[in-house]
Amino acid sequence: MKHFLDLSLIPKSELHNILSEAKRRKGKQSQAGKVVVSEPSNAKDKLLLMIFEKPSTRTRLSFDLAMRQLGGETIVMNSQDMHLGKGEETIGDTAKVISGFSDIVMFRTFKHQTLLDLSELLTIPLINGLTDSSHPCQLLSDVMTFEEKKGSIKGAKVAWVGDGNNVTNSAIEAAVQFDFAINICVPQNYLPSKKVLDWAQSQNGKVEIFHDVKDGVKGVDCIMSDKWISMGDDGDVKKKKKDLKSFQVNDELLSIANQDAVYLHVLPAAREEEVTSSVMDGPQSLVWLQAENRLHGQKAIIDWCLSS
Ligand code: CP
Ligand code: NVA
Repeated sequence: MKHFLDLSLIPKSELHNILSEAKRRKGKQSQAGKVVVSEPSNAKDKLLLMIFEKPSTRTRLSFDLAMRQLGGETIVMNSQDMHLGKGEETIGDTAKVISGFSDIVMFRTFKHQTLLDLSELLTIPLINGLTDSSHPCQLLSDVMTFEEKKGSIKGAKVAWVGDGNNVTNSAIEAAVQFDFAINICVPQNYLPSKKVLDWAQSQNGKVEIFHDVKDGVKGVDCIMSDKWISMGDDGDVKKKKKDLKSFQVNDELLSIANQDAVYLHVLPAAREEEVTSSVMDGPQSLVWLQAENRLHGQKAIIDWCLSS
């Protein structure tokens, strides 16, 4: 069974195939309407169940449309409306029922361990739609977006700027799997996962940590950022914003990167906090293309999970 839980868990060659498939499917997309099934897929007549413990705009929309374009259908459930979310049913019992009703599951949850537990209990494939530890689907479309505008990401240099969070962890894994260098520009005490950093080191990944953001963005081909306050991040918000203030991506910071560097943001954005509108709406920003590419990434991921 093929789960899509983290980029580090998927063989490199398979990940590269998934990326190529996302690009190929984008090239074949029908312009006649949003739900035209134009290409054969492993998802035809299959049901994707999506369970959300946290809000979502892009992930929900893109998975839903992806499944329809692949010839399948979807059901979306908010975990708070399920017995599982209310603590009235075990994850094991829920997994049995889910496995009987659907062909594939996408889960957005808080604790990564909940995702891992579910993956062991289901008898159908599971996709990580974001946990507190990672967001692998996001990085697939981010790499796709970079390559669409700049060519192969292999050998490129990327700067992650801001909080060391779940998406940072996946960005580090993407750097190893897609062979690019990544400068992690975060304040002291806002480092990404040690486990992910250790894994990257064991794979000879090109990962460097910078606490001086201006040093970290020098000579990079891409700046990536994300919200400073993630969903469920219930620490001292005021202090965190103060600590991250000098990590705002603004025109001055962007001008230190390579002249033709591109800007990516996970979205949703808190404008004028982690990024200024001048950068987000500026000529180097690819954020809308990046959001749109989630659709093509999801199609390739679903198709791969359902392949034999
Ligand atoms: N980037 C992303 O996952 O967006 P949503 O939270 O809107 O799904
Ligand atoms: N780091 C953010 C990503 C949102 C898509 C969060 O977890 O809220």
